[in-house]
Amino acid sequence: MDRYFLTTAIYYINDKPHVGSVSETIAADFIARYQRKLGKQVLFSTGTDEHSQKVERTALAMGQPVEQYAATAAASWKALFDRLGISYSRFIRTTDADHIKVVQEMFQKLYDQGDIYKGSYDGWYCVREEAFLLESDLVEGKCPHCGLEVQHVSEVNYFFRLSKYQDALLAWYEQHPDFVRPPMRYNELVNVIRGGLRDVSVSRSTVKWGVPVPFDTDQTVYVWVDALINYATVAGYGTERFATDWPADLHLIGKDITRFHGIIWPAMLMALNLLLPRRIFAHGFWNFEGERMSKSLGNVVDPAALIENLSNLIGIDEPMAVDALRYYLCREGTYGLDVDFSSQRLLLRFNTDLANDLGNLLNRTLNMFAKFRSQIESQPLEPKSALSELFSTTLSAVSADYDNLQFSAGLEKTWMLVNVLNKMIEDDKPWALAKVGDAAGLATHLATLLTGLWYIANLVEPCMPTVSDRLLEAIRRPQVAWSDLAWRGPGSELPEASSTVLFPRIQPDQLEEFLAAQTARKTGATTGATATASPAPVVNSGLITIDDVAKVQLRIATILEGERVPETDKLVKLRVKVGGEERTIVAGIGKHYDPAVLVGKQIVIVANLQPRKLKGIASQGMLLAASAGDEMALLTPMTVLPDGAEIH
Ligand code: MSP
Repeated sequence: MDRYFLTTAIYYINDKPHVGSVSETIAADFIARYQRKLGKQVLFSTGTDEHSQKVERTALAMGQPVEQYAATAAASWKALFDRLGISYSRFIRTTDADHIKVVQEMFQKLYDQGDIYKGSYDGWYCVREEAFLLESDLVEGKCPHCGLEVQHVSEVNYFFRLSKYQDALLAWYEQHPDFVRPPMRYNELVNVIRGGLRDVSVSRSTVKWGVPVPFDTDQTVYVWVDALINYATVAGYGTERFATDWPADLHLIGKDITRFHGIIWPAMLMALNLLLPRRIFAHGFWNFEGERMSKSLGNVVDPAALIENLSNLIGIDEPMAVDALRYYLCREGTYGLDVDFSSQRLLLRFNTDLANDLGNLLNRTLNMFAKFRSQIESQPLEPKSALSELFSTTLSAVSADYDNLQFSAGLEKTWMLVNVLNKMIEDDKPWALAKVGDAAGLATHLATLLTGLWYIANLVEPCMPTVSDRLLEAIRRPQVAWSDLAWRGPGSELPEASSTVLFPRIQPDQLEEFLAAQTARKTGATTGATATASPAPVVNSGLITIDDVAKVQLRIATILEGERVPETDKLVKLRVKVGGEERTIVAGIGKHYDPAVLVGKQIVIVANLQPRKLKGIASQGMLLAASAGDEMALLTPMTVLPDGAEIH
């Protein structure tokens, strides 16, 4: 049996899942199910990226052992994926023992053969993105990806000889024009490679929560290298299975992480003499009101709350609400480009495509079947041959769309079949056929509906597995591989129910309730719905979480010296002691404090702020002061504490 191996990116555990992030795993699940429908044996992985500085910090801020924090977070991602019907073969955690072993083996091999060497890094680091950045990468001094502050990092660590693979990578891209899709992402990466590649840092000396470098236990493997290797772990690197399961047919990722997947990972694989993945597809972002949905912007739509709201307010069971969400996410927009999330659009699609078109088609078919069953008893149940061609060519066209990850186009074509059948009911007028006693015509009509629905139910399975099962259950036909779909009548198993409501139409008052269940963005106002059940808010307000708080390191500092900065009455230069180190801090407190009287006082500083030059003096932190009108007061502890003490 042919095999197909696809992967999603693995998720950072200190981010809560949102509609944008889970859309990637839903799309991957779509492909996994589609490939199974083609008869392939599918290996499909998703999971959690658990090591890193930010996870270490978050756990510390929450007062939890980091292992415990990671286990709880990973379990909640996994539970959500189970709820969303994700048919993964492996949910990988980067803390899994087999993965740690693979990371260490690969790292050691690269080191032994000279592809990893010791050096020193002096540059910038974005903790949010866990990315080393060049000065030229920064946008107004901030991370070009998430827009947050970056840290200056100067440490001894290990480097991977990425530059050595520049020519081989370029040649690979030239020989494999489909390696990265969509084409604009391919072109971007080719330009980056042509622009020249530098060796990259692949370990951290200041991060403890990571895979230890096997030959230097003072260092941990850089989280991105650790994370990329998950794909090889899933394929059983180091075991016999690897020979058949590697390479991946598809790495599905977002457009923000193409350099890691399209440059660093292929170069590592080349260095290890392993095959490269067959294709990398980089999708766009789900936005909210034009901005990327992300935790740092506080504009995330919570998938669990959305499903609960749909289910409670509209009165459908949860698996159907899940399918409605899956349908919306795959049907809206062109996969690869950004798309804006809109609850109104979701409801519109629900009412038109699901309730009106598909739900109605099933209901009408069952209704007529029950009504006219006795009239067609002795007739052969053969579908109209005139439609055979249309259904088989559509099946191939939908397949071609799904091969190219064009979910929306494939679903649109499937809905064209739904509409052809709905129109056929209007044109054939079965009630008129029954009236004139045209039993043969009636039998052909009903057999066409049942056969058409059988195709449609199988075609929608990758997108809506529950809907597909329920459609098939109602018409009593089986789930089959697409190659087994044939334009033939239903046989002896015939529908029994006289009606079924797959999706009830959403009424205007329910529609308003659903929309009201969303929290007004950034205002923090929660307008909860009142009827049926109280829905959970779907959109988070601008409030920050404990994870955000954990990013800021507040410390007690003791002032050693203070003087005014020449030519300004506002700025004061302080020499402070924080734990074992001394720092200079330039602060705008000159109008309120005489620096000389501050010596010996304790203050609160932000210790992990990126250094900044003020009047030519590098300020290594910021002190906290409160102001009201003309008044200003420095914040200070109520009792003297050892300097460097952390503030939680
Ligand atoms: N841990 C790394 C990936 C390592 S893979 C070896 C990471 N994690 S992430 O949690 O930040 O992102 C996981 C995936 O979710 C990425 O592919 C990312 O592009 C995707 N998305 C995050 N926000 C998204 C949207 N708003 N919309 C669509 N996808 C989004 O990066």
